[in-house]
Amino acid sequence: MLAAALVAAAASTGAQAADARRGADLAAHRCVNCHGDNGRSQVPGVPSLAGQPADFITVQMILLREGIRQAPAMNPFAQGLPDRDIEDLAAFFASLPPGPPDDRAPKDEALFAAGQALAGPRHCATCHVADYGGRAQIPRVAAQREEYLVHAMTEYRDGKRAGVDTQMNGAVVGLSNAHIAALAHFLAHLD
Ligand code: HEC
Ligand code: HEC
Repeated sequence: MLAAALVAAAASTGAQAADARRGADLAAHRCVNCHGDNGRSQVPGVPSLAGQPADFITVQMILLREGIRQAPAMNPFAQGLPDRDIEDLAAFFASLPPGPPDDRAPKDEALFAAGQALAGPRHCATCHVADYGGRAQIPRVAAQREEYLVHAMTEYRDGKRAGVDTQMNGAVVGLSNAHIAALAHFLAHLD
């Protein structure tokens, strides 16, 4: 499969160590307007990248560059980027300390508990790691922007987001909009 081949390619380009400092220079001109100076997005609909695993960023940038992941607001910024730039950008954003956006909504204890109760039986933490910080090609979802989490889960459920495989489509199958809202509130309020 094409996506699998791309991931294999991404994983094997590590011969040259990624340069986070060069990534910071690239990001300053092209990325931080939307994704935030410190990698924590203050813009609705734009995900934070601070503390994302470098492999996850690299793979998603390749999917976005090749148009396999469709996101009209983002595809133009991935278009034509060489692998080396992508790896340096990924190293930079991965090195930033993660945290919630400044405009995070107050925590609703009932909604948080409802989301937590849904996450257990669906084994979200098995893949995303106990603290939801992600690993390798699996994203950090803790303290991510709440409305972006809703958007991402809705796209997986409705078959509109192509990932490297269908793991996430299976994880969210059958969830109602209310379930997705509760899960997003739970994840957004983890630190
Ligand atoms: C005009 C605003 C804008 C700019 C500039 C921009 N992005 Fe994005 N980016 C977005 C939006 C919006 C999304 C969410 C796309 C979606 O809805 O799936 C996104 C998604 C991403 C993702 C996927 C993250 C995830 O959690 O799934 C990565 C990685 C990313 N951008 C990296 C970059 C990098 C690196 C740059 C600079 C080269 C950049 N972006 C420039 C708006 C922007
Ligand atoms: C079998 C492993 C697995 C399980 C279980 C799983 N995930 Fe994921 N998740 C992934 C992978 C892999 C991705 C990246 C997929 C891609 O390439 O789009 C992902 C992506 C996501 C994203 C998109 C984040 C972003 O920044 O774009 C969200 C949100 C998410 N998962 C939430 C959840 C929730 C909530 C659950 C439980 C209901 C869950 N996941 C269960 C593996 C898993």
